[in-house]
Amino acid sequence: LVLILDFGSQYTQLIARRIREQRVYCEIHPCTLPIEKVRAMAPRAVILSGGPSSTYDEGAPLGDPRVFDLGVPVLGICYGSNLIAQSLGGKVEHAPAREYGAARVVVERPEGIFHRFSKRETLDVWMSHGDRIVALPPGFTTIGVSGNTAFCAFGNVERKVYGLQFHPEVVHTPRGSDILASFLFDVTGLSPTWTPGSWTDEAIAAIRDRVGPDEHAVCGLSGGVDSSVAAVLCHKAIGDRLTCIFVDNGVLREGEVEQVVATFRENFHLNLIAVDEKKRFLDALRGVTDPEQKRKIIGKVFIDVFEEQAAKVKGARYLVQGTLYPDVIESVSFKGPSAVIKSHHNVGGLPERMKLELIEPLRELFKDEVRAAGQTLGMPHDLLFRQPFPGPGLAIRCLGEVTPERLEVLRAADSIVTSEIQKADLYETIWQSFCVLLPVRSVGVMGDGRTYEETCAVRAVRSVDGMTADWVPLPYDLLARISNRIVNEVRGINRVVYDISSKPPATIEWE
Ligand code: XMP
Repeated sequence: LVLILDFGSQYTQLIARRIREQRVYCEIHPCTLPIEKVRAMAPRAVILSGGPSSTYDEGAPLGDPRVFDLGVPVLGICYGSNLIAQSLGGKVEHAPAREYGAARVVVERPEGIFHRFSKRETLDVWMSHGDRIVALPPGFTTIGVSGNTAFCAFGNVERKVYGLQFHPEVVHTPRGSDILASFLFDVTGLSPTWTPGSWTDEAIAAIRDRVGPDEHAVCGLSGGVDSSVAAVLCHKAIGDRLTCIFVDNGVLREGEVEQVVATFRENFHLNLIAVDEKKRFLDALRGVTDPEQKRKIIGKVFIDVFEEQAAKVKGARYLVQGTLYPDVIESVSFKGPSAVIKSHHNVGGLPERMKLELIEPLRELFKDEVRAAGQTLGMPHDLLFRQPFPGPGLAIRCLGEVTPERLEVLRAADSIVTSEIQKADLYETIWQSFCVLLPVRSVGVMGDGRTYEETCAVRAVRSVDGMTADWVPLPYDLLARISNRIVNEVRGINRVVYDISSKPPATIEWE
């Protein structure tokens, strides 16, 4: 295990990704993690992340300097490197000019983390800092210099402690992975053995150990990638002692219910309860147009339904959830509270209310690792590479009142978009592509008659994590086909518009 201590950098998750790409297992923990816990984890190496503070500020997070006494290699990045300098007897100051963006570093000494380079080699790197080191701690030497500082990369070869003012984890530092590889393999002596595949066997064994022979687990299966992989993994561990509950909430897409039931019951032989609660959800949504209100209603009814169904499962003690690593970091890491833009639908309140213990087998994985794990488990490609779909479903894509009639119109239009995007072979390169039904009527003409019908907005975005997104410039002929098919095949829509807003300032969903 490589331990990454997070001091609040926006790039901390990227460090973890880069290390896992080298097939080394790592975890991010907040910099406030007590030293006893650090010792108990017995990390083979520690990485100190960047962060927004200055080490000399009052109240700046300084971590526990005893990490330097663990006897394992330490790499400090940006703020982390300043922390090494300051903690071990060097000096850090406010820099006269902030350094932000591309810079060049010349290799002074090709050793330690620079082992894979040659003397005088020039590296393109990405800087983002406002402080500089003016004196190195005793025993440390410069290994790389930039135009701005003689202490751009430094280290103590005996102690195996290194600092970098720049960010090796970002793509703008093209040789960054060589530096991280040197740190992991040459300096620390790790081997590249970790894979999501090797991970699944361990995860299955861990679940089997935890759930006793008479105990049962329940899982809310949505048909999305995360809950599906979590369910299949758990099923491998405890078989029929896992009951999956799939709720048809009336705001799913065309054919979705049949597909989920067929896949999990017939292919995977999961013990699946599929409950048709369409009416209950749609009754609760009747007359509601406010987005937050819709989200709250769906969240609440879902919990009610789930509780009722789970209560029928005898001996249920555990709740299986497909929580991913980025969700975990969001909640534990070293960050201030952020504003609630939309109340996301999840089953967060369930475990306490139902007195269930959580099993979150994917807690340590990134999305692409979950997909790889799913592949190892023999899950179908189409299921693993589905675009994300929000918990409140079509309700938040059916602007205005959610009625069965309008849902049917939206479903038909949406399935045209999906099939055309798939035919154009764009489905997997696009983060999400879908339709939004707008309660805006306009006049049209069809044949010899006048129409007065609603508008459909088509949206397609690219994104890495859903936090930011860019609208996709779909080819005009594809847009034309989508538009033609929708107005010709879907009664109730006579106008199609394309959403060309990115996030921010827009969000991906319209509600
Ligand atoms: P926004 O609209 O906030 O969406 O830009 C970001 C991503 O989150 C998805 N989304 C949700 N996912 N429950 C979910 O599980 C929700 O309530 C929810 N709301 C939005 C959205 O589809 C996009 O991928």
